[in-house]
Amino acid sequence: MKKIIIDCDPGHDDMMAIMVAAASGNTELLGITTVAGNQTGEKTFLNAQKILTLLNRKDIPLARGADKPLLRKLVTAPTVHGITGLDGAELPEPDILPCKDHAVELIADLIEKQAQPLTLIPTGPLTNIALLFLINPGIKKHIERIVLMGGGVYDSNITPAAEFNIYVDPEAAKIVFESGVPITMVGLDVTNKSLLSFEEIDKIEKKRGKVSGIVGPLLRYFAEANRKIFGIGGAPIHDALAVISVIEPSVIKTRKLNVEIETDGRLTRGRTVVDVYGVTGKEQNVDVAIEVDIKTFKEILFDTVKRLDVL
Ligand code: BDR
Ligand code: CA
Repeated sequence: MKKIIIDCDPGHDDMMAIMVAAASGNTELLGITTVAGNQTGEKTFLNAQKILTLLNRKDIPLARGADKPLLRKLVTAPTVHGITGLDGAELPEPDILPCKDHAVELIADLIEKQAQPLTLIPTGPLTNIALLFLINPGIKKHIERIVLMGGGVYDSNITPAAEFNIYVDPEAAKIVFESGVPITMVGLDVTNKSLLSFEEIDKIEKKRGKVSGIVGPLLRYFAEANRKIFGIGGAPIHDALAVISVIEPSVIKTRKLNVEIETDGRLTRGRTVVDVYGVTGKEQNVDVAIEVDIKTFKEILFDTVKRLDVL
């Protein structure tokens, strides 16, 4: 059983990532931590509490992390995720008792309790993970791999050069990418293809179950926002692909490439600079996702909603 921790900024696709992990039979979700990103730290934490309440998973430890990037002012994504960070449907009010610890303490605690190294899945800005490595560098050897949603080889969203999670806290991303921990980068080149169409979202909503009845309208809101801003014909469930690739590794194909983070660029802040042709001769430090098996991705998503509806 693979043990995982999700560090996230829910966010519609973060919510789907949590749901996939919660429903999976072959991974154990040890804990969830939140970070400011899609919305403020307060709102992403509240959303995580609501998601766990909806799923009735009071047993999963949840802790709040950084409210702002290491050095920069926080940039949020209200045009994509709304004012609450999860616009489109009402989730139940929180009925769980979150940890008092900071996210960084909870992650360290969970890692130290495990006999085997585990997998970290960050689906928001990398602030908490960078803080963890700055405060506790020894922890790195207990992490088998970081599978993160962020960056892109050719694709971008928040600027013509950068993907949102890396753009928000590029200094944190640099620390994580240079940490020496094995990294899989699940970026926009594959996640923008990992779409649910409007028809597929309708199908989910029509089930009118405990989870599908809420996920449907939320995903429609998210799909509309993506259509309006990026001209995408559906909801790209970016963050869920990172989790699905841990549960079912064959869902992505990767190439080992050198990746560096641009922190200084005037126009290119937060770009993941990927050396596709090996022209720098630098170490191939990241497994970069370059292809996705959409059919399996969708099957796992539909199966997730089906399972959670009857729990
Ligand atoms: C990433 O940015 C956020 O808006 C999403 O939740 C996802 O993690 C996509 O660029
Ligand atoms: Ca996210």
